[in-house]
Amino acid sequence: MSRVVIYERFGGPDRLLLRHIAEPHPGPGEARVRVTAIGLNPMDWMISSTPALAAAFGVAVPSGFAHDFAGVIDEVTDTSLGYAVGDRVFGSVSSRAAADHLIVDRSDTVYRTPDGIPDDVASTLTVAGLTASAALSAIGVSSSDTILIGGAAGGVGVFAVQLAKLGGATVIGTAASTTARFLRELGAEPIGYGPDLANRIAAMAGAHVTAATDLFGTETVHAALRLGVPSSRISAIAAGTALPTGVSATGAQDADPHAMDTITDAVLAGQLHVPIAEEFPLARIQDAVIAQAARHTHGKIVVTI
Ligand SMILES: NC(=O)c1ccc[n+]([C@@H]2O[C@H](COP(=O)([O-])OP(=O)(O)OC[C@H]3O[C@@H](n4cnc5c(N)ncnc54)[C@H](OP(=O)(O)O)[C@@H]3O)[C@@H](O)[C@H]2O)c1
Repeated sequence: MSRVVIYERFGGPDRLLLRHIAEPHPGPGEARVRVTAIGLNPMDWMISSTPALAAAFGVAVPSGFAHDFAGVIDEVTDTSLGYAVGDRVFGSVSSRAAADHLIVDRSDTVYRTPDGIPDDVASTLTVAGLTASAALSAIGVSSSDTILIGGAAGGVGVFAVQLAKLGGATVIGTAASTTARFLRELGAEPIGYGPDLANRIAAMAGAHVTAATDLFGTETVHAALRLGVPSSRISAIAAGTALPTGVSATGAQDADPHAMDTITDAVLAGQLHVPIAEEFPLARIQDAVIAQAARHTHGKIVVTI
């Protein structure tokens, strides 16, 4: 038997059910992953709770749950995918990662897990890492920049802050006042999100913001424009509304083809640390989603098997 998380009706975390099913087996052109870790993202529970968003992602009920995974190839029927039993892999699939066994094919995003990166960390890299990379690439961050990052302590933020620092930039990140220490340890100068953001940044000693990326709505977009940052140097990943002309809407799909190599190299070199805020067993998937959906995660939440 094999466990799989499904939901039959759209709604909150209580709709997520752990089902026992017959073990799936790969067909031609497929391989099976024994999943060991699932990195949660807001899109997981946004899709399972929002029919219109689910439709946009081609998801209909009943559906599996979650996207990012890590694990080990444990069954292959042919070698056309290039995997062998025992290969460690991680990546992202469409709304079905939360399961003991996962069937993958060429259409899925699957990377080999480098030795030295544990599975819980590997399971966090794909959506958040690629999205952070794309958000920075869209605005061309360099060592002469001071970048303002909105929502800097979240799943995408922890990658964006560290990748921007690796590029030599000075980073100012928005977060709650209670998150200031976490952001400083990550390498960013913290500033509270909320009213009067632009004026408060303007009052920071030596802060001359030259680029910005908004990982949580549009507050940072508008603050950056008020600070005189050109729209071509502002990106956003979660605007949920029309952006001012010239501001780039970006996402994981826009990442450079080599972005994951940059991310894994940085992790291996000890230059990029993924804070894992909390780990939950698969049987506690509802609790994991409740924690993630509170929107105050510092880093990533991982479900382990
Ligand atoms: N376009 C894409 O491809 C793509 C990919 C990934 C994610 N996204 C979207 O991007 C957003 C961020 O994703 P994520 O994984 O980073 O989310 P997340 O981990 O849930 O973000 C949590 C963080 O948001 C911060 N936060 C809470 N309220 C805030 C506010 N009003 N202003 C600024 N920050 C606030 C929290 O900081 P405090 O704890 O300090 O309050 C916390 O650290 C989500 O909406 C997600 O759906 C888009």
